[in-house]
Amino acid sequence: MAKFEFPKGFYWGAATSAHQVEGDNHNDWSEWEKATNHPVSGHACGHYNYFREDFDIAKSLSHNAHMFSIEWSRIEPVEGKWNEKEVQHYQEVINALRERDMEPFVTLWHWTLPLWVAKQGGWKNKKTISDFVSYAEKITSSIQGVKFWITLNEPEVYTGNSYFVGIWPPQKKNLLQYIVVMQNLIEAHKKTYEKIKKLNIQIGIAKNNIYFEGIFSSLAKKILNSYFLDKIKKHQDFIGLNYYFHKKFFSLTKKETGVVFSDMGWEVFPEGIFHLVKDLKKYKKPIYITENGIADKKDEKRREFIKEHIKWIARAMNEGVDVRGYLYWSLLDNFEWDKGFWPRFGLVEMDYKHPPTGGERKIRPSAYEYKKIIEENSVEI
Ligand code: BGC
Repeated sequence: MAKFEFPKGFYWGAATSAHQVEGDNHNDWSEWEKATNHPVSGHACGHYNYFREDFDIAKSLSHNAHMFSIEWSRIEPVEGKWNEKEVQHYQEVINALRERDMEPFVTLWHWTLPLWVAKQGGWKNKKTISDFVSYAEKITSSIQGVKFWITLNEPEVYTGNSYFVGIWPPQKKNLLQYIVVMQNLIEAHKKTYEKIKKLNIQIGIAKNNIYFEGIFSSLAKKILNSYFLDKIKKHQDFIGLNYYFHKKFFSLTKKETGVVFSDMGWEVFPEGIFHLVKDLKKYKKPIYITENGIADKKDEKRREFIKEHIKWIARAMNEGVDVRGYLYWSLLDNFEWDKGFWPRFGLVEMDYKHPPTGGERKIRPSAYEYKKIIEENSVEI
């Protein structure tokens, strides 16, 4: 065993997204939740008002970075009308991070759309591309103090669930629409990049890649892991990797024993992150792990989960892969989309008292173990 030291300035932290933590959003998801029999996000974690307290917690856990998303529907509730108060709100969020010496990683779109955008057909409509570029331009020119911008969160997960599997709004099962939406998202990223790129900012996407093994793995890799990144390879300064899934096609070996699963039934396979970051090396860009986490209400598996994933990242870095940060999903238990509040991903446990007071947060033991790794800035590999 050897000790691996992370470079000085390596980013350690956690991530959230607006609709999952803020509360009281009014967008296509909130409307869909109410119109269907799905769980309602409602006040969520009340993070919109309690971001300072939440950042105090992150700081107390030695985080030096934090990722969150800006809610487009707050900034532009009506087409072409900017809500300056909401722009100011997000400036305060960024200031609060800077005051705590935490580097902000800011996502411009984490799946929710303003109602007027949804009404015009969402990402199916080409017009949404220029609308998104205007919104991105407005935000990046109004807000100070952000170096890392993520245009889109997991475009292929959204497109798959919303237009192919049909379980997320607008619940379509239509291959043609799936292709159109995917192309429009690629275009939106590229156009945004061209419009907002400046020397002192770094732009990328957060890409959910799956570690595939078995007979169809190269085809699956091409479609689900590489396609989007290949299309935008000249329009990105870094790669954000979100890692959750391992998929083995038709394994002839017996069912493995000792496999650990999350509360959501997702297999825990830390080694996968090693192979994925090594695959990303071909893009010759810095890599940030923008999400990696486990739903584990009892906090029995999270400690090992974090440690093992970090170990495999360190092993890849030891082989020359340029990883520069790790953001655990998530800082807080939060609203897990169509599943609602039961999956518990948080370093911090929420008891969801409403109206939220900020006092219902409890740091889980695994968060302190993560803190130890951060403070040591090293792991045994
Ligand atoms: C998404 C998050 C989500 C997490 C766990 C990621 O794919 O970006 O919004 O909560 O996975 O499912």
